[in-house]
Amino acid sequence: MATVVSILSPKGGVGRSTLATNLAGGLSEFGYRTLLVDADPQGSVVDWENERVHNWEMPPVVIPLPSDAEPEELKRVIDGFAWVVVDTPAGLERLSMAALSIADCILIPIRPSAPDLWAAEQLVDLIKARLAALIGTGRVVPTAFVCLQAIHGSDLAKEVDDAASSLGFPILTARTTMRTDYSEAFQMGLTVPALVPGSDGDREVTDLLKEIIKLTSKHGQS
Ligand SMILES: Nc1ncnc2c1ncn2[C@@H]1O[C@H](COP(=O)(O)OP(=O)(O)OP(=O)(O)O)[C@@H](O)[C@H]1O
Ligand SMILES: [Mg+2]
Repeated sequence: MATVVSILSPKGGVGRSTLATNLAGGLSEFGYRTLLVDADPQGSVVDWENERVHNWEMPPVVIPLPSDAEPEELKRVIDGFAWVVVDTPAGLERLSMAALSIADCILIPIRPSAPDLWAAEQLVDLIKARLAALIGTGRVVPTAFVCLQAIHGSDLAKEVDDAASSLGFPILTARTTMRTDYSEAFQMGLTVPALVPGSDGDREVTDLLKEIIKLTSKHGQS
């Protein structure tokens, strides 16, 4: 059974697609059969795959999901994969809700800024309603904030940690910081670990992957 990681956020430009490609590519490199679903009509993940000119032995399979797709279609395409990462559009539209409904793990990316956290409140309420509906079914969906594009030496990250926990979900210890490696890897259809192995960015992504695998395996889904 696939473990579905849905990346959801109400705001644009927080780094969802960058996170999605690094997670899915990283899981592939770990040897898992991984699907990366591009549920954003903007098609950034499809562009990411199309931009790749280098040989890369372990890319994830990328599938675009049409904007009028039903949640059932999402369930159909994930068959046969160990991991599925779903990149969603900004906002809380139909496809984001479909990604929420099939998720085994929900990640809410936020940059270390107050507006990102304020905007997350409505999504947090929707996720809590979804999780409440699962009570009694035995299904547990670990949910966490992920801090992206943190700035070295800034106190904002600490404030974000406090604010995130006040919204009722933990924030992952692993995070990404501001690095050009992320945009360069994206432009080349790669992940940061594949582009610059052994770099600090590689360590950030690898730490994120390990933490997410642990988060989901605690619930018997890995
Ligand atoms: N850790 C990082 N360091 C530096 N730049 C980053 C980092 N993460 C993402 N970016 C850059 O931030 C911008 C937005 O990232 P991305 O496209 O992943 O966000 P998004 O949430 O998917 O946006 P959209 O709402 O357009 O779908 C891109 O230019 C990307 O290269
Ligand atoms: Mg995107």
